Amino acid sequence: MIVSKELIVKYSEFARVDELSPREVELVDKAKDVLSSSYSPYSHFSVGAALLLENGEIITGSNQENGAYPSGLCAERVALFYAGSKFPNVPIVAMAIVASYNGAIIQLPISPCGACRQVMIEYQNIHGKPYPVIMVGQSKIVKVEDVRFLLPFSFSNVEDAAQK
Ligand code: THU
Repeated sequence: MIVSKELIVKYSEFARVDELSPREVELVDKAKDVLSSSYSPYSHFSVGAALLLENGEIITGSNQENGAYPSGLCAERVALFYAGSKFPNVPIVAMAIVASYNGAIIQLPISPCGACRQVMIEYQNIHGKPYPVIMVGQSKIVKVEDVRFLLPFSFSNVEDAAQK
């Protein structure tokens, strides 16, 4: 028997950063600030990510490229892995992502690559708390309230997968 199903992805769009809450605006500003530390001599595409943790810490990361291209790492995973190693038991409250190209913040927001989404959802799952992701462009801001909206059908851990 074939059963057709649908998945609904919910997200909000904002025209300006100041339509976000003050705490979110602060997080976006931190993601913008960290663009200056991007090491992206190959793509000239800078990405900044900022994480607000439940203990009030804000952890930022920028993309770090490498002459051996696949050895580089996206901004999101730089921030997530740093947060995971420094504050292993502290849930994430919110994440903001910003990108610039040749020095100017891009018009439309980027949304994270598949590998970053997988890492984002793992940290969400271990703490059992959905967190919003705010993706910022000059003319549009997109916000999802839960990483699951960015990665339906995600892989969980090996034990969970084996039990399914
Ligand atoms: N990049 C990120 O840091 N985050 C993303 O969400 C997409 C892409 C980086 C990887 C590479 O350094 C550059 O942007 C161009 O792809």
